[in-house]
Amino acid sequence: MSRSAHPAGPRHADVMTEGHYTAPAEDLNALDEKVWARTVTRDEHGALTVGGIGVARLAEEFGTPAYFLDESDFRARCHAWSDAFGPGADVFYAGKAFLSRAVVRWLQEEGLNLDVCSGGELTTALDAGMPAARIAFHGNNKTVDEIERAVSAGVGRIVLDSFQEIVRVAHIAQRLGRRQPVQIRVTVGVEAHTHEFIATAHEDQKFGIALADGQAAEAVRRALTLDGLELIGIHSHIGSQIFDMAGFEVSARRVVQLLAEVRDEHGIELPEIDLGGGLGIAYTSDDDPREPHEIAKALGDIVTRECEANGLATPRISVEPGRAIVGPTAFTLYEVGTIKPLEGLRTYVSVDGGMSDNIRTALYDAEYSVALVSRTSDAEPMLVRVVGKHCESGDIVVKDAFLPSDLAPGDLIAVPATGAYCRAMASNYNHSLRPPVVAVRDGQARVIVRRETEEDLLRLDVG
Ligand code: LLP
Repeated sequence: MSRSAHPAGPRHADVMTEGHYTAPAEDLNALDEKVWARTVTRDEHGALTVGGIGVARLAEEFGTPAYFLDESDFRARCHAWSDAFGPGADVFYAGKAFLSRAVVRWLQEEGLNLDVCSGGELTTALDAGMPAARIAFHGNNKTVDEIERAVSAGVGRIVLDSFQEIVRVAHIAQRLGRRQPVQIRVTVGVEAHTHEFIATAHEDQKFGIALADGQAAEAVRRALTLDGLELIGIHSHIGSQIFDMAGFEVSARRVVQLLAEVRDEHGIELPEIDLGGGLGIAYTSDDDPREPHEIAKALGDIVTRECEANGLATPRISVEPGRAIVGPTAFTLYEVGTIKPLEGLRTYVSVDGGMSDNIRTALYDAEYSVALVSRTSDAEPMLVRVVGKHCESGDIVVKDAFLPSDLAPGDLIAVPATGAYCRAMASNYNHSLRPPVVAVRDGQARVIVRRETEEDLLRLDVG
């Protein structure tokens, strides 16, 4: 999925000669700032610290496995996105990447909006005080109950994803005496260069309404006839963990062309376009993500140019980054349990978590980095596979990496860039307990999502 996501082998020196990985040239104690949260560093004893707190203290106080989230990094990234897009555009944080009440409060304080895609996310957002007008509601199969709740709450927009939904939302809004602002999600026919499961703008998948065969124009026609709807714009999201701006540019161009067609046919200029999320982050040193200002400039330029060419006023642009904001801000801390060298192959390092706290490696062949963080070591590098404690051989956290060969049970290791789609996709597989998320800032650490307990498991089991 990312450029480094294919199972090509270890990244560092990255070479496999005659069936053997050669050891990495780089210092295993170094922390590449591309993949670690901003305040992460090593203290004078070599232990990793975040927000000024050492991992030994964090592990003792909060246990392992646990996600530690650098709050000031999260806030700085929110700021960078809203700054890059400026007052003429809107940034919606995609809550599916990771959502909690604390996150919702930070978003409000940093001036961001929020994209939700389920009743649960909507409830979390409203409960934490996000004004409904700053919420966008997404999903390819929103239930009637979810639509009613979103309309009643007064969400700023519902993104319509199918012909049935156009009618469904219109009827519900009318019944509730509302005129609901909506966008129509279109599929622009772009093949995004990412993993198949997270590419969303090619034709053969479940999201959106196709531009290519005139379906999107027909959706606009229908939405404009319905009293319960106020059509405010067109939405496109081409996929996730994408580095190449070309797909976004094609998408922006095609969306603007649709605005021109709508103007020609109906005599109205839709005031907004949303270009979705999907910007890639660095999971390993091989990944080179774009900065928000580069993205804002590329998208702004193309929209302005296309609008000028079509004689349209430039619409208000919105974007929906999830991973690019929260992904790099957290790491997962694990304790090493067992170490099993397999002669001529690699060493299996088992940690106290696994696919229940990070399913991305198993699901998308995602690549991650890993480091020994409770201390430094000058021992020779060894090729490892970091695996979890689940009853499944696909339970892999980091497929290929190097760790020092003096690694021992009890050492703490950390996997960076786990802020997005890790806690959000965590499961109770094998009745494991989902880890906590701990926010760290300026020498203070506080739990924002607590660790699950065995009582939580039993409470759901009512048989
Ligand atoms: N907007 C819409 C309509 C989306 O569907 C998504 C992600 C986003 C924004 C945010 O995308 P981001 O900026 O976070 O890439 N579980 C997968 C990713 C699924 C993304 C789903 N939609 C993963 O772990 O890679």
